[in-house]
Amino acid sequence: MKNLVFLGPPGAGKGTQAARISARLGLPHISTGNILRAAIKEGTPIGLKAKSYMDAGNLVPDEVVIGIVKDRIAKDDCANGYILDGFPRTLPQAEALAQITQITMAVNIAVEDELLVKRLSGRRVCPACGLTTHVNSYSGANCPTCGAALIQRADDNEATIRNRLSVYNKQTQPLIDFYQQRGILETVDGYQDIDLVTDAIVRAIEA
Ligand code: AP5
Ligand code: MG
Ligand code: ZN
Repeated sequence: MKNLVFLGPPGAGKGTQAARISARLGLPHISTGNILRAAIKEGTPIGLKAKSYMDAGNLVPDEVVIGIVKDRIAKDDCANGYILDGFPRTLPQAEALAQITQITMAVNIAVEDELLVKRLSGRRVCPACGLTTHVNSYSGANCPTCGAALIQRADDNEATIRNRLSVYNKQTQPLIDFYQQRGILETVDGYQDIDLVTDAIVRAIEA
């Protein structure tokens, strides 16, 4: 069983890598950020609650995201494992997760703050197929996979990015120690090329 958590600051590459590892290993990719953005788009009660927190770059209350993840990992496609991208993000979330499932590995994608601002301000995402790209590697206005118009996330402006980094440093960084103490932390160098990061994660998972 591979019950994986991907940790790392905003822009570290959690979503990029989770999508690749999901395709390689056939594990569902569960991003709380994507689930919340979809809820906002659909105007559900959870979406209405989450919007102001996300627009400011602050964390959505623990009970909201814990409920989402609890329901999601109970589904049949998670029977052989899953990749959690962006959850847990606080100690109470990590403790709640430990009550409902056994995490087998936490992959920490390590990158320093200044590079993250550059990565996030140039990020473009496809609202139709979920592709994530960057203006430095692709300059077109439309998705190279499906042709839909690419968009910039509402929280990818410099002021909000800086707040997200500070929230990460205060609230999420302690989870590195949490998983280290449990002997299941693997750190990979997130500065490398995207393909090399993927290879390092696959090696860690298969070791
Ligand atoms: P979420 O959507 O999870 O955002 P985040 O944590 O801020 O992380 P990002 O998605 O910005 O970064 P990433 O690591 O996925 O990077 P990516 O692969 O895209 O959360 C958004 C909000 O939702 C939160 O602020 C909060 O409000 C709420 N939320 C979500 N989960 C929550 C929770 N558990 N509790 C409470 N609230 C929660 O890559 C970034 C860019 O870099 C891309 O352009 C990419 O192409 C590029 N890139 C990636 N890897 C490389 C590389 N190796 N080299 C060069 N460029 C690269
Ligand atoms: Mg992401
Ligand atoms: Zn697309």
